[in-house]
Amino acid sequence: MNRTEFRFAVRPLPFLDAQASNPGGVLELRARPTRRLLVWHPDAIEHIFRRDRQMCHRASRTMSPILGSRSLLWADGDRHLAYRRMLAPPLRGRRLALRHPAIADTVSAAVGALVRGTTFSLPEWTRAVTLRIIGQIVFGESDVELLHGFTNWITGELGSRRRTLVHRYLGRGASRSNADLDARLLSAAGGARPPALAALLLAGDTTLGALEDGELRDQLVSLLFAGHETTASATAWTLYWLDRHDGLRGDLVAELAATTDSGADATQVPLLHAVVQESLRLSPPATLAGNRVPVADDELLGAPLPAGTVLMPSIYLAHRQPDLFPQPRRFDPNRFLDKTVERTASAGYLPFGGGTRRCLGSELAMLEIRMIVAAVLRQRRMRCVNPEAGIAQPRGHAMAPSPRLRMMVVA
Ligand code: HEM
Repeated sequence: MNRTEFRFAVRPLPFLDAQASNPGGVLELRARPTRRLLVWHPDAIEHIFRRDRQMCHRASRTMSPILGSRSLLWADGDRHLAYRRMLAPPLRGRRLALRHPAIADTVSAAVGALVRGTTFSLPEWTRAVTLRIIGQIVFGESDVELLHGFTNWITGELGSRRRTLVHRYLGRGASRSNADLDARLLSAAGGARPPALAALLLAGDTTLGALEDGELRDQLVSLLFAGHETTASATAWTLYWLDRHDGLRGDLVAELAATTDSGADATQVPLLHAVVQESLRLSPPATLAGNRVPVADDELLGAPLPAGTVLMPSIYLAHRQPDLFPQPRRFDPNRFLDKTVERTASAGYLPFGGGTRRCLGSELAMLEIRMIVAAVLRQRRMRCVNPEAGIAQPRGHAMAPSPRLRMMVVA
């Protein structure tokens, strides 16, 4: 590991912050043996996403032992396409709308359980709620004990910064889930009925065929993991930023008082939607999109790009470009209320990545965050008791608020 990589590994956010004013938008982390480039220039990002089909998508060293070697996150070609064709439609539009009542019930129960006068860890609470929601979507019902086992295993692997570094740079790799947890995941999938995603996976299709247990396990873990970790962080960050901006909180309460919508319909709560978008900009839960490796020689911003170069799109740096987001460290949802300004990956905004790998759950995630925040604002008054703990810390490839960040239910 060279000095640049070492600095990036040990103190990733200060390292990235130091690059934020670098207008080049591309940084070589390593030249040999495999060249690695951190990329955030909007034209370079657009080029990469447009050529996604000519890239291969390497498994992450930290995450592949956890998600498994056959996870759809590292699949390429026809198999990747078949997974997306199967799993994307139930996670958007009318099929997603059928799930609104179940999501609303889960959110209402979780907010209802917040008792006045108590304090709780905000990131742990949002993680529990979002895991319950994705558990229902994957299996059709939430087996609380199974989800508890799942979250304990993930927190054991990724909850400590030191462990993440050891996994990533000393090549020891995270530990796979144990045989008992895998067996329980497969058994829950066996009992799932449509429209649960596990039932779709079990039914297979002409390209995928019938999935072996090992491959099915990898997809179940991938969906549970990708489907709640980032959403949990984004929800916690949104509630944290609202705590820091009391006036904005008041405006949101007024917006919510004027509608009976649960937050599911973004057009009914435009300010809330903009608050979530701004939270995803300033505190993107995924700081990097997946690695891309061109299979043939190419060019990037006019410079030669040899095949085999590892490209790492930096969401964090893209979102902090002062020419695209003036005063980038300021939390300002107005940026997203102005509809004349484009907010796409090619304009520097990519919380959900892009190209052929764009997040499958983006619509579900936005909906969940709005619904949880709306329910909290309508039903509870909370105050952050230790705002100094509102600091980001790596959790795998995600950027989560410290678990020490606590809220008190005041009314
Ligand atoms: C705020 C919440 C979320 C954020 C910020 C987020 C972000 C991302 C990002 C950055 C990627 C990589 C895209 C790329 O490489 O270009 C991704 C992929 C993915 N996400 Fe999400 N995600 C969120 C919620 C969800 C949810 C709720 C699901 C539900 C199933 C989900 C499922 C996936 C899957 C399956 C992939 C892999 C897609 C592929 O490789 O084709 N995500 N997500």
